[in-house]
Amino acid sequence: MKILGIETTCDETGAAVVKDGRLVLSNITASSANLHEKYGGVVPEVAAREQIKVIIPVIEEALIKASQILNSKHEILNKSQKSKIQNWAKKNIDAIAISHGPGLIGSLLIGVETAKSLALAWEKPLIGVNHLVGHIYANWISLDNKPKFPLIALIVSGGHTDLILMRKHGDFKLIGTTLDDSAGEAFDKVARLLGLGYPGGPEIERLASQIRSTKSEIRNIKLPRPMIASKDFNFSFSGLKTAVVNLVHSDEAIVHSKQKKSAVADEFQKAVVDVLVKKTIDAAQKFDCNSIVVGGGVAANTLLRSQMADAATRISRKVFFPSKTLSVDNGAMIAAAAFFVNKKIDPLELQADPGLHF
Ligand code: KG4
Ligand code: ZN
Repeated sequence: MKILGIETTCDETGAAVVKDGRLVLSNITASSANLHEKYGGVVPEVAAREQIKVIIPVIEEALIKASQILNSKHEILNKSQKSKIQNWAKKNIDAIAISHGPGLIGSLLIGVETAKSLALAWEKPLIGVNHLVGHIYANWISLDNKPKFPLIALIVSGGHTDLILMRKHGDFKLIGTTLDDSAGEAFDKVARLLGLGYPGGPEIERLASQIRSTKSEIRNIKLPRPMIASKDFNFSFSGLKTAVVNLVHSDEAIVHSKQKKSAVADEFQKAVVDVLVKKTIDAAQKFDCNSIVVGGGVAANTLLRSQMADAATRISRKVFFPSKTLSVDNGAMIAAAAFFVNKKIDPLELQADPGLHF
């Protein structure tokens, strides 16, 4: 079954064709992140205006790439053959999947209305996908080794930090969430504070990797691990962000010294990762889960990947991360989720839902 997955919940516009939930035939993403950089965060109006411009070209490119991979030789398409692309899609695509929330309303509407129109025009089933479920199912793509149920899923994105218990496909029990900021938001806010670009996660990661000095005044920079010892599975990152604000205000040299700044970035990243790893591992033990899956933009973080893998090995659990490209927002994860959690919906009924949750 070949599903066209469409993703427009935030500043990315993604379209992908995925076969049977696991084999990616194409995965095209256009991002407007560069346009938001000077503001230190996504400007919703700017994101939506860009998405209007690129959504059709992105979908066309995904269809062209998929046709080339499948390579029915006489049928290799190119951009100028608009009606051929349509005909190819009508013949080869079995369903259209769209992430209809949570996210920014302007951005969601563009993807949702496009997906509805295509479903009606091509007479294909339409499947509505929760964006966060998409992040979970990125872990099923292209793996020989599948996660096993019951499992714990950690979703760490720009808007969410959630721990989910899954006993089977489509069964999501929220066992913990953030009480304030998400992990990704904390990365973005701290990056802005340190004068770095957007998105902040990769910038913090890069700066942290440049820490060289062994001077104790730098090595001694310490930040809290909020709620690490609480008995529940909730998170809180806004206090950590405030601790960085206080640190920077107490020592003005920080923003001017590359070494001090990288020490702050390093300690901040360690603090976030320590909390995420501890809670996820505790949840896997409490609910007797053999597999742990991680998804969302922060799952691209190298320290999180290595610390989670080490901690899971110590308790003989298996941890799964999507590739870095599939950790951030993309259409392939939406198509994969639609294959496993196949919720068909009448195109005339589907609504963009900015507050959609588990
Ligand atoms: O899942 P995602 O692409 O979009 C949302 O659904 O929000 O996540 C974006 C978030 C941003 O906050 C970004 O700073 C963070 O993921 N991120 C990272 C890294 N790459 C992206 N955070 C830490 N380390 C990274 N390498
Ligand atoms: Zn996301």
